[in-house]
Amino acid sequence: MGVGINVEHLNAFYGKTQALFDVNIAVAANHATALIGPSGCGKSTFIRCLNRMHETIPEARVEGAVRIGDLGVYNGTSATQLRRRVGMVFQKPNPFPTMSIYDNVAAGLKLNGFRKRKQLDEIVHKSLHSSALWDEVKDHLHKKSGASLSGGQQQRLCIARALAVQPEVLLMDEPCSALDPISTGKIEELIFQLKEQYTIVIVTHNMQQAARVAEFTGFFLLGKMIEFDKTEKIFTNPSDKRTEDYVTGRFG
Ligand SMILES: Nc1ncnc2c1ncn2[C@@H]1O[C@H](COP(=O)(O)OP(=O)(O)O)[C@@H](O)[C@H]1O
Ligand SMILES: [Mg+2]
Repeated sequence: MGVGINVEHLNAFYGKTQALFDVNIAVAANHATALIGPSGCGKSTFIRCLNRMHETIPEARVEGAVRIGDLGVYNGTSATQLRRRVGMVFQKPNPFPTMSIYDNVAAGLKLNGFRKRKQLDEIVHKSLHSSALWDEVKDHLHKKSGASLSGGQQQRLCIARALAVQPEVLLMDEPCSALDPISTGKIEELIFQLKEQYTIVIVTHNMQQAARVAEFTGFFLLGKMIEFDKTEKIFTNPSDKRTEDYVTGRFG
């Protein structure tokens, strides 16, 4: 099941440059939350602070508190521990190109020392089902490589790979921006189904997409979270003038 995410007074830095300023947000469990805002406003930085990827960048650091369910992300939790509970999907599908479809999905489990063949088979099957890819790949799980799939299939493979370790949270950073409209539609449908089991945070530059898939939306501008509310409110009756200007296309 998904868990909630609580972020308090989050500041993020690249060296001396501050990229996020005092971000506070409570993300609801088992819902999809969209993050929108113009390029460079800190959406990716924010999402990378949730799974401790931000600190892997040299000179980058984080201040503030992040809780994923009962887990304090910056209170002694190891990055490995955390990534088992928080899956991530990137803008550009990044399957392991030389590995088979099966091995791509099983990779995270094997990394965690999981070896039982029958259970691995079951989880691979289930994950590919959940990512709506099973029917398209079931006949060549071991024959075809991750790189042999289409872009849209590769992205669903990456989603299956993220789901295989049974996370509680799925972070998606512009997961459709490299995909054609049909693949995008499939991923959006998928997000709809996945939020029954997972908490989803999705960065998107496509406001229609945010409106379609997310119950809640946060608007970022220049490293600050300007407004966070129900998606409908953000798009139809925002409280802040800057949000209104952005969602009505007056800037950005
Ligand atoms: N690796 C990095 N090193 C230094 N600055 C970065 C790095 N990544 C992002 N930034 C800066 O942080 C700010 C926020 O970027 P980012 O989080 O990528 O925005 P968004 O995802 O909303 O486009 C920008 O000013 C960007 O130039
Ligand atoms: Mg980004």
